[in-house]
Parts: sequence; C-alpha cells; structure tokens
Amino acid sequence: MSHQKEEKARAALKALEEVQDGMVVGLGTGSTAAVFIEALAAKVNDQNWQITGVATSKRSAELAQSLGLTVKDIDEVSAIDVTIDGADEVDPELNGIKGGGAALLYEKVVALRSKKNVWVVDQSKAHDLLGTFPLPVEVIEFGAQQVYLTLAELNLRPKFRMKNESERAKTDSGHNIIDVRIDQVDDKKALAKTLKAITGVVEHGLFLDICDKVIIGTDPIQTLVK
Ligand code: 5RP
Repeated sequence: MSHQKEEKARAALKALEEVQDGMVVGLGTGSTAAVFIEALAAKVNDQNWQITGVATSKRSAELAQSLGLTVKDIDEVSAIDVTIDGADEVDPELNGIKGGGAALLYEKVVALRSKKNVWVVDQSKAHDLLGTFPLPVEVIEFGAQQVYLTLAELNLRPKFRMKNESERAKTDSGHNIIDVRIDQVDDKKALAKTLKAITGVVEHGLFLDICDKVIIGTDPIQTLVK
C-alpha cells in the first residue's frame, strides 16, 4: 500500500470512534470516505448496531448498500449526528477545498445539516493556505460557457472538468464542473460570496467554517479541532 493510502486508511479507521450505535451518519465521497464506509459496515455487522447512513453521492450510497448498511435520503432523516468525509485541502483553521470527486454539492448539503463534521485526510492535504488544489465550481449546463467567461474575467483561470477529450464531466445532479485557481486570492470568504452570486453557479467547493475536526492519518495521528 502506498504511503498516502496508508495515511488515508489510518485516518478513516480513527474516525470510527466518532460513531455510536443508533446514530445517523453522513457518508462522504472519495477514496478515504470509502475506507470509512467499509470499516463502518464491518463494525455495524459485527456489533449489530443500528446505523442509518446519508450518502453524499450515488457511488457512496451504492457502496454502503452493497455492504449491508441502511442508507436513507437526507429528507428522510430528522438530523445527521456526524458526517465523515474526505477533503482535497485543509488549512489550520479547518477551512477546506472539496469536490475533487465532483460531489461537492451533495457533500455541502449534508455537511451543513450535520451536527458534527469530521474530515479524514492524509498529510498531503494539509496546507497553510488554501489554493494549491483547483477549486471546483458546480454550474448548470445551460449557459455554462457564460459562467466560464465570468470566471475568466475574475482572473480565476477556469477550466471545464472533462470526462474525456470531447465530453464534459457531469455531477450526480447532471451539472458541469469548472475548476478555478484561487492561489492568488487572499480573501476566500469574499470569493465564496462572489461565486455564489453568479447566476448559473450552483455551489463551490470552498467549505469555510463547516468542519469541526480533521483527522490526519500520519503515524502518530494528528487531530485538528476548532
Ligand atoms: C469528493 C471530495 C473528496 O472528499 C475529496 O476529493 C477527497 O478524496 P480522496 O479521499 O479520494 O482523496 O471532495 O467530491
């Protein structure tokens, strides 16, 4: 197993400690979240726990169900106790960039309705300043090129995320993703507002003041809390 994979697995397994019998658990998306989902399913089967999962993507829902976990739609639960998710980048203030796996919209919907958000990451995701990783912006397909031009005017160096050479990638909601560069942007809060105000933008991957705890899977494990 690569060093990075080992750290992801260590963080994901540590996050099991956040879950107790009877909880509603938000299930993140990505390779680290997948390790968590597998470990959670094993625990639930082993201990005969009653856990309800709320998935942040079709693939996480499918994975969880294939392992025997109960998965409900977010609108079928009254509260989400804790969400365990990965991240593409996280800073010391627990702000982050998410959406590398194109699941940022559902991830943010679930995160904002969760009592506690825990991110599981490897060391390479920890940065003093956000912006090394491109920021995903989810846009509706209609007029996506117009939004692209607006993002270019804002000097954000936009790039459509592609599925292949000729086809744009699509999210679970059928939207497009435009990745932008924010390494030159000092005020991330202002940028978040600017992006949300562009008609056609559905959501962006800046997760500011959302995360409560970050587990970095180094040996020994590092934990960042608010
Ligand atoms: C998906 C995400 C993922 O959490 C993020 O991309 C991290 O993925 P991985 O655990 O595979 O590194 O935001 O939209």
